[in-house]
Amino acid sequence: MFVQVAPSILSANFAALGRAVEELTTAGADIIHVDVMDGRFVPNLTIGPPVIAAIREHTNLPLDVHLMIEEPSRYISDYRKAGADMITVHMEACTHLHRTITMIRDSGAEAGVALNPATSEETLKYIYEEIDLVLVMSVNPGFGGQSFISSSVRKVANIRKLLNDSGYRSVRIEVDGGVTASNAPNLVTAGAGILVAGSSIFSAPTLNEGIRSLRIK
Ligand code: DX5
Ligand code: ZN
Repeated sequence: MFVQVAPSILSANFAALGRAVEELTTAGADIIHVDVMDGRFVPNLTIGPPVIAAIREHTNLPLDVHLMIEEPSRYISDYRKAGADMITVHMEACTHLHRTITMIRDSGAEAGVALNPATSEETLKYIYEEIDLVLVMSVNPGFGGQSFISSSVRKVANIRKLLNDSGYRSVRIEVDGGVTASNAPNLVTAGAGILVAGSSIFSAPTLNEGIRSLRIK
């Protein structure tokens, strides 16, 4: 079954991000996943637009920017200008979600909505038409290296069914957090189209093996 693999550079050496992105590109990544954290929406801080603009120079792969920040609508154009191809905001961080995802699409990027593990998929139903992807968090966002929350598989299956039944087959489901070679097959069978992985790829003997282990034969 076809799945795209999006390595998270959160697990890379931040002092050598350009090289990490080049190595992931050569190793067969489909997408580069970039985790943006503000120390408010999540209890951790990472990077912002200047760093994304810098890594943009090192790959032609799509940059998938996962905004774990409060008030993301204030920064959409900054991230787009820095080179983001896909911009995902958290449902829990947006009072005016419809407006924010419209801004993302108007900027020319693909629009994604992320759901924390405790957020119900039912809340998506009025915005199917406005989104390109749903990001199912399979850990509580903020840190790499956490354990996969197994109920996420059921959530992916529920979302896939809701989307397909409503005529939105082209909306992709991305899963992020604790993704490994052992849970990847179940996620893809449930309907995931993009798998994000940090620790499982960076701890593999080679990046190529880590990426390949997530693809379903
Ligand atoms: C967590 C981030 C993830 C993280 C995944 O808040 O959104 O993208 O980097 O890392 P692993 O695969 O180590 O759980
Ligand atoms: Zn992420």
